[in-house]
Amino acid sequence: MNINHLNGGQKLAVKYYIVAMVLFGAQILFGLLSGMQYLYPKLLFGILDFNVTRTVHINAMIVWMLYGFIGSVYWLLEEESETEVVGLKLGTLGFWVLTSAVTVVVLVFLLVQGGPGDDFTRWFINEGREYIEAPRWADIGIVVCMLIFFYNVSATFMKGKWSGISGVLTLDLVALAGIYIAGMFYTPNISMDQYWWWWVIHLWVEATWEVLVGCLMAWGLMKVLKVDRKIVTTWLYIEVALMFGSGILGLGHHYFWIGTPEYWLTIGGFFSALEPVPLVAMVVHAVYDSGVRHMKGNNNPALAWLIAHAFGNFFGAGVWGFMHTLPQINLYTHGTQWSASHGHLAFFGAYATIIIAMIYIAVPYIRGQEGIGSNLPDGGWKWKWALGLLNMGVVGMTIALLISGYEQSFIERAVGGSTWLGYFTAQIHPWFVQGMEWRMIFGVMTAAGIVLLLWDLLTIGKEPASNQKLQTKSS
Ligand code: HEM
Ligand code: HEM
Ligand SMILES: [Fe+2]
Repeated sequence: MNINHLNGGQKLAVKYYIVAMVLFGAQILFGLLSGMQYLYPKLLFGILDFNVTRTVHINAMIVWMLYGFIGSVYWLLEEESETEVVGLKLGTLGFWVLTSAVTVVVLVFLLVQGGPGDDFTRWFINEGREYIEAPRWADIGIVVCMLIFFYNVSATFMKGKWSGISGVLTLDLVALAGIYIAGMFYTPNISMDQYWWWWVIHLWVEATWEVLVGCLMAWGLMKVLKVDRKIVTTWLYIEVALMFGSGILGLGHHYFWIGTPEYWLTIGGFFSALEPVPLVAMVVHAVYDSGVRHMKGNNNPALAWLIAHAFGNFFGAGVWGFMHTLPQINLYTHGTQWSASHGHLAFFGAYATIIIAMIYIAVPYIRGQEGIGSNLPDGGWKWKWALGLLNMGVVGMTIALLISGYEQSFIERAVGGSTWLGYFTAQIHPWFVQGMEWRMIFGVMTAAGIVLLLWDLLTIGKEPASNQKLQTKSS
């Protein structure tokens, strides 16, 4: 791949994007494995147990999304700041350090898998906090790489030009990197441990990641639809204010049942119920801009994925989150497949989509073109099918999981009174089992979508566009 015509930040972004997509593939592979283990509990038992496949599935997700975000920021950095990236060499070094660390961590997860509950295990094998299980040494490495990234970004904007988008972005990165540290404390008290761990998980995905994708969306809409900067910046400020206003104390919806004081029931219920408001603003914003521009842009795949993001974020996080966020409801749904239903639609809808959009924005430039026209030689069937299969696959999984979760809430919790017997009655109920089967069917559809997506990203725009063919015909 010849990428010499790209600027320094973009070159580094390409590296991040490639690793992101490889890890996306790994996420799906391990998702398929853990889903199969629900149906065939003996599958790979003693070799790769469910706890291992699940750990790799969700950690690969967090890491590929971070790679996607970092890549996107490096991609837009020089253009937005109108100057060269400061400390690019250091940034490149950071990429290699991070990638080596991720590789070692994954290998340890797969080969060593676990250890006794002592300091050695925590430092070198697994820290045991869902989604951020990486051992302590890697945590420290990640923080160092994030600091380098932050230095690149802030120093570049400081040398070049600030804008509304870059200001919000830079402040957000401080918060994003800072709260990661909250997931590193060790305390033998499990309530306290969970209390801090949610600072990372909830405050990441419902505050700092949302703000970050707000910035990417603003930039993406300018890029793809040529929306006016003033308009996107105004929306961005509104969204950010609403997001922090509701998302910070919305944290309380994870403090209902972990041994934290009872006032969290009220605080969490109230503020998290407000969390969908900024997400509505984000959809309105995207639909408004697209409407004003009559959906005419220079990059149809990117535009389609930006729209998928606006709706996916609204439904996955806003609607699916709202469904179980009041303590009166969460009492029954907590920790069932209902949560997994929301988790899948939210992470895919809010984050996978926008990173895919950002990569599609980058692809034509990487191939030395201005955009992706509608006259692709293959008619664009690959990107369209990838879009359809991925979205339908994830929505299908979401519905299958919701049915299983509904059944659990009803039979295990409401009827069975959260007893051991209730749990097992729910687990073998046909509705539960069928939900798990349908999850696999739609999971395979999702996986087919990924294969097509990767194929398309590797090939789109490589062949000469069909207008060249037209020219030869007419001459
Ligand atoms: C893009 C943003 C979001 C993402 C990626 C996301 C993802 C997730 C995930 C993965 C879980 C399961 C955590 C676990 O393993 O225990 C979860 C739990 C939860 N989410 Fe979200 N979420 C988002 C936004 C929201 C919003 C806006 C709301 C409320 C309106 C919400 C409400 C909840 C609640 C109440 C739980 C706890 C479920 C339980 O009790 O088991 N989420 N979320
Ligand atoms: C091939 C498709 C997929 C399959 C078969 C699959 C399967 C699974 C399974 C079996 C679990 C464990 C659930 C449990 O502990 O009960 C899981 C968890 C999870 N998966 Fe997937 N997955 C797939 C794709 C995805 C995608 C595309 C995303 C998001 C981009 C995703 C995000 C998650 C999250 C956030 C969790 C944790 C949910 C929670 O703790 O409630 N998965 N997945
Ligand atoms: Fe949350």
